[in-house]
Amino acid sequence: MAVTQKKTILSGIQPTNRLTLGNYLGAIKNWVKIQSDYTCFFMAVDQHAITTRQKPEELRENTWFAIASYIAAGIDPATCSLFIQSQMPQHTQLAWILYCNGYMGELNRMTQFKDKSSKTGANIPVGLFTYPLLMAADILLYDAQLVPVGEDQKQHVELTRDVAQRVNGIYGEDAFVVPEAFIPKVGARVMDLQTPTAKMSKSAVNESGSIFLADSADQIEKKFKRAVTDSGSDITFDFNEKPGVSNLISIQAAITGETIDAVVQRYQGKQYGHLKVETAEIVRGELLPIQLKTRELLADRGELIRILRLGAEQAAVVADRTLKRIYDRVGFVRFES
Ligand code: AMP
Ligand code: TRP
Repeated sequence: MAVTQKKTILSGIQPTNRLTLGNYLGAIKNWVKIQSDYTCFFMAVDQHAITTRQKPEELRENTWFAIASYIAAGIDPATCSLFIQSQMPQHTQLAWILYCNGYMGELNRMTQFKDKSSKTGANIPVGLFTYPLLMAADILLYDAQLVPVGEDQKQHVELTRDVAQRVNGIYGEDAFVVPEAFIPKVGARVMDLQTPTAKMSKSAVNESGSIFLADSADQIEKKFKRAVTDSGSDITFDFNEKPGVSNLISIQAAITGETIDAVVQRYQGKQYGHLKVETAEIVRGELLPIQLKTRELLADRGELIRILRLGAEQAAVVADRTLKRIYDRVGFVRFES
């Protein structure tokens, strides 16, 4: 019988502030869905997080919370490698080589950089600019073929491909595996409940537009009840004409697994109020068991540490192998065989 090797996927979330429903539907839920078909590496990218100022204690707590949430949402630590980026020195080691092969011009074009640097004032941290190359290192280090992310990260994965292909052109075709972004059909861009033309974000100024994974049942209900809807009264799916309503429809579809059309059908002859209340119920039903499990996991740090140690050990086997391969290609002296 032919043994087919599983492909590798890798992804991560910045443990800044609290994770949102956008992170869950755009990333984590999708990881859970596909994990059994792949060799999986999932991490909390705390080194990315410090590209914007973080309070040390909050960063630490958010990092634990992120890892616990992955597991609570259904990531199986027995089959996936879970780890914290800063515990793997190989990422910044490889990043240096990528800094020497990425171009200022391409980094300058990154939407997220333009966005975030417009908010920092005159002193833009260098790390905010080079960040996509650290992300490229995260991915290339594990020979990942697929990178399951939300829509906003597509540009960074494209950059990773460009740089990988460039390095392969210089140092040999098999230096890096060239990855692809893997974006869910629904849920890839969950919008803010108050400003449905902007993506739901952890750092939104108005918190009532974001659903956080740790929100209480009451908060979830209130936020959906106050969600901005659109003019008219028909429930139809059209992000240009009806961004608020369309966002609620996609959130439902992403959770229940129904098609967008099926959700729209269910609401024929009903009003916006029904859609809001029922979306809140569906979100609550999905998040509450995850919250319970997250709390349980956070209460047992020993078990989380065991999982993270094992994950880091497994990750190191692959990361060390790639780093050696690239060091040799680049011409760095190494003493071991
Ligand atoms: P970040 O919060 O920027 O670290 O994003 C972590 C992951 O969540 C990435 O895969 C993002 O693409 C995804 N993500 C973040 N915000 C959203 C959103 N509003 N809708 C869908 N996916 C999102
Ligand atoms: N840059 C991603 C974000 O802000 C997080 C991230 C860092 C990531 N390294 C990664 C995602 C590697 C996928 C793969 O969402």
